[in-house]
Amino acid sequence: MHLIISDVMPALCPFLTLVCLPVIILLVLLYVFREVLGSCPPCRSNKRLDGKTVIITGGNAGIGKETAIDLARRGARVILGCRSAERAQEAVRDIIAKTGNSKVVFYILDLADLDSVRQFAATVLEKESRLHILINNAGIGKAAVLIPGSTTKQGFDLTFGTNYLGPFLLTYLLLDLLRSSAPSQIINVSSHMHWFCFRQLNFNSETKNGVRYPYLTGYEISKLGNVLHARELAKRLQNTGVRANSLHPGMVETEIWTPLKKKYPAWMYNFLMSIIRMFGLNSTEGAQTTIYVSVDEGAEEYNGRYFAKCTLSKENRLALDDSTCALLWDHSMKMCDLK
Ligand SMILES: NC(=O)c1ccc[n+]([C@@H]2O[C@H](COP(=O)([O-])OP(=O)(O)OC[C@H]3O[C@@H](n4cnc5c(N)ncnc54)[C@H](OP(=O)(O)O)[C@@H]3O)[C@@H](O)[C@H]2O)c1
Ligand SMILES: *[C@@H]1O[C@H](CO)[C@@H](O)[C@H](O)[C@H]1NC(C)=O
Ligand SMILES: *[C@@H]1O[C@H](CO)[C@@H](O)[C@H](O)[C@H]1NC(C)=O
Repeated sequence: MHLIISDVMPALCPFLTLVCLPVIILLVLLYVFREVLGSCPPCRSNKRLDGKTVIITGGNAGIGKETAIDLARRGARVILGCRSAERAQEAVRDIIAKTGNSKVVFYILDLADLDSVRQFAATVLEKESRLHILINNAGIGKAAVLIPGSTTKQGFDLTFGTNYLGPFLLTYLLLDLLRSSAPSQIINVSSHMHWFCFRQLNFNSETKNGVRYPYLTGYEISKLGNVLHARELAKRLQNTGVRANSLHPGMVETEIWTPLKKKYPAWMYNFLMSIIRMFGLNSTEGAQTTIYVSVDEGAEEYNGRYFAKCTLSKENRLALDDSTCALLWDHSMKMCDLK
């Protein structure tokens, strides 16, 4: 047997490299393009959301705004959480004009400042008696951090703080309202980019170069946090009628890419954007999975799951580790000074 293999191998090697390897690379590329960039089927549910209240963070642009338009069309009361009153006002006007639903409002929310998150939650608790869907959509992309080492007001990594910690505190403060409005749900807009975390999270809590928890930084970790958070929430909220799920919207042409303009020369930025335009989704298409999870009756049995393209998807193995979910929860409580 050994003899045969060693006889054949030398002849096999060039064959492998010349034919098999390119074919394998091509197949992998096609798979990645289809999985990560490819089209998303529209959410076909006609479900109405009359009488339901929805919060969408960052609902003034991109995926969040398209989600807001769709849910408002279904009759929901839609609350946007936005950091700019001016942009929020304009979006509210536009959403009302497009949908004819006047139950659209905004309250100020800056996720990069835990005090602002507390203020927003207090306003919601004061003004709203019900909350059925909380969509943690707002986020900044990799390119948004122009100065490395930028932090939130409380000194956490800017991306981690905006994409994960702010939403964690927001969700925590609204849990009782979600519980009393059950059946209700929490949806985290995560990203397939969370697959690019290859190592266990490092919860070292020292402050390094002015950053608290200096190893919890960057886009990939913040998005892994969204998935872990949804799973831990799902576990904690069992039998309360509150579900928690996370999702990948697709590769979507939104303002999330705009900061790249400052990072790259114009030709490179334009080239990248044309790739995204060609293979990616526009923001209406990018909102479909969020809408699907928000309304689809078929998804109602799901809890603590991860979605993409309007269907169940696979999360990073690291996101399935129950002890990491629990550890991240405990540390997040400490970061937010919660008991
Ligand atoms: N686009 C993609 O290809 C893609 C892929 C995977 C995942 N995602 C995720 O999808 C979500 C939505 O992104 P998008 O593509 O729609 O981007 P976008 O067009 O840039 O919209 C992001 C929204 O988040 C808001 N926001 C940012 N920082 C905030 C803060 N500190 N406090 C409150 N609101 C804040 C923005 O408000 P301003 O208008 O004030 O900036 C904006 O409304 C993000 O979580 C992103 O990670 C996007
Ligand atoms: C989503 O992640 C945020 C942190 O980014 C967390 O606060 C929230 O509870 C999570 N919700 C779900 C459903 O994962
Ligand atoms: C996105 O494309 C679809 C067609 O595929 C179109 O109906 C929709 O209006 C577009 N949305 C935006 C925001 O351009």
